[in-house]
Amino acid sequence: MSTIVYWFSGTGNSLHLARRIAEGLGDTELVSIAHAMRAADPPRTAERVGLVFPVYAWGPPGIVHRFIERLVVEGKPYVFAAFTCGGSAGSTAAITRKLLRRRGLDLAAAWSVRMVENYPPLGGAPAPDAQQRHLAAADRRIGEIVGSLKAFPAGVTRDGNPLFGLLGPLIHPLFLRDLPRMDRKFTADDTCIQCGLCAQICPVGNIDLVDGRPRWLGRCEQCYACFHFCPTRAIQRGRTARQHRYHHPDVSAADLTGGASSQGQPGETP
Ligand SMILES: Cc1cc2nc3c(=O)[nH]c(=O)nc-3n(C[C@H](O)[C@H](O)[C@H](O)COP(=O)(O)O)c2cc1C
Ligand code: SF4
Ligand code: SF4
Repeated sequence: MSTIVYWFSGTGNSLHLARRIAEGLGDTELVSIAHAMRAADPPRTAERVGLVFPVYAWGPPGIVHRFIERLVVEGKPYVFAAFTCGGSAGSTAAITRKLLRRRGLDLAAAWSVRMVENYPPLGGAPAPDAQQRHLAAADRRIGEIVGSLKAFPAGVTRDGNPLFGLLGPLIHPLFLRDLPRMDRKFTADDTCIQCGLCAQICPVGNIDLVDGRPRWLGRCEQCYACFHFCPTRAIQRGRTARQHRYHHPDVSAADLTGGASSQGQPGETP
């Protein structure tokens, strides 16, 4: 039984989830959405096709919108989605279903998993001990999801607070509209050691280096990989110097920037 999982991830939560699904189902190809968007991704087919990504403003990230809008899947696979979030997925399943329907694909099942919040404007990541608690609970939840996926279930489970599901269709389009301008608030402070990692890790090439220091180019996805992976915490978004930084402990910067696809064993760099 073959599976393709398309994934997008800024701080590793969603890549961790994608890998756990791949490990649980076996015979799974993991495909980076960021890579697929840079190259001409060939039409693929499998008996199961999954989308795994973080929730942004109660819906899918902009890059996931654009990816689904051009997605070509051959045949009639079982299609599922799994989202990682910091609290509530809001209307992510409903929006994803609508996008897929326009491509002739039915979203059979969707899950959301609360992991570690990574959004600096709303306070950012919690303290390390809370991060560990959230990740332990998330791993239990991921185990349940992988178990149910094997039975090809239908329906959406736990998409968070129903109120946010109602507000999502109003808030999410505003987020998408403002996305390109949102990197104006990024700065690099004096602790920058000019290592260049921020430019390497950006999934959409939105950072170039001027005298070794980052300059943001106005096509940001707001994934916060640059912010959280900077080794000296030099990148700020407003008054964030004291905020915790976070990335999933099993996911490295190289994992996020690696090749387009893999056979997805945990710990393996895609
Ligand atoms: C721009 C942005 C918007 C976010 N919006 C939401 C949201 O609406 N609801 C929520 O529960 N978490 C939200 N989060 C938190 C992320 O969904 C969560 O931390 C996710 O697990 C990150 O996944 P990643 O590590 O794969 O990037 C947001 C994060 C970012 C960066
Ligand atoms: S990752 Fe941080 S230290 Fe490295 S170049 Fe970027 S801002 Fe400077
Ligand atoms: S500039 Fe930073 S936040 Fe924006 S897409 Fe690139 S890595 Fe993500």
